[in-house]
Amino acid sequence: MMRTPLIAGNWKMNKTTAEAAVLSQDISNRFYKDFTPDVALCPPFIDLKTVRNVLAFDKSPIKLGAQDVFWEDSGAYTGATSPVMLREEGVSYCIVGHSERREYFAETDEMVSRKAKALLAHGITPIICVGEGLKKRDEGAQAAIDFVVAQVQAALQLLAPEDIKRIVIAYEPIWAIGTGRTATPESAQEMCASIRTCLADNAGAEAAQAIRILYGGSMKAENAAFFAPMPDVDGGLIGGAALDAANFIDIVKAFL
Ligand code: 13P
Repeated sequence: MMRTPLIAGNWKMNKTTAEAAVLSQDISNRFYKDFTPDVALCPPFIDLKTVRNVLAFDKSPIKLGAQDVFWEDSGAYTGATSPVMLREEGVSYCIVGHSERREYFAETDEMVSRKAKALLAHGITPIICVGEGLKKRDEGAQAAIDFVVAQVQAALQLLAPEDIKRIVIAYEPIWAIGTGRTATPESAQEMCASIRTCLADNAGAEAAQAIRILYGGSMKAENAAFFAPMPDVDGGLIGGAALDAANFIDIVKAFL
């Protein structure tokens, strides 16, 4: 089955609102409406409205994404943002369980599953991040696959089978994030195929075939074309290279 590739830019904690306006405008200007991949920009919360306005003014097909969410709709949760708020802001995608959130904000597998469930309940597509560290990778490919598949399984824990087909998974080996060192396209393919098997076990083969699995970790214009032909790699979650409009658009073009 043909899956529409998704290229999502994770801006992480970069760009003030003024800078976000400039970057999103630059990306929008370079984007052709007949580009076939789905594209999303995930700026910091505080920039969402600015980016939304830029994209709306241009009638751009580029979608808005967030980088995190809390699972309650409202209440006494200082500093948190709810899926209801994101929905009203026009957010279509939301990253959950990024390795940086797991490491610096003590996010657990259970929290990731709760967040994904809450997003789905409000019509937002969760981009669920998984990935092994260097120590695990050094134990061998099978150890890394077992670790990542267990992470996927844990993230699916609270999701109904009919909801699973609406998620996106991002495989991001931690040792490849921001390091300039990428997984080989073949090892990314091997991992993404194993993730798809896990999805099939949970939601059925047909649903698993419909779910997009992205690769993330130092993907840029220079290497994106090597990942694009991999049958189970359905796009990219882009960090550093998403902060450069020309580089980001070249990645999109690699998945045309
Ligand atoms: P880099 O592309 O900077 O390696 O970051 C990847 C990432 O973490 C995207 O979520």
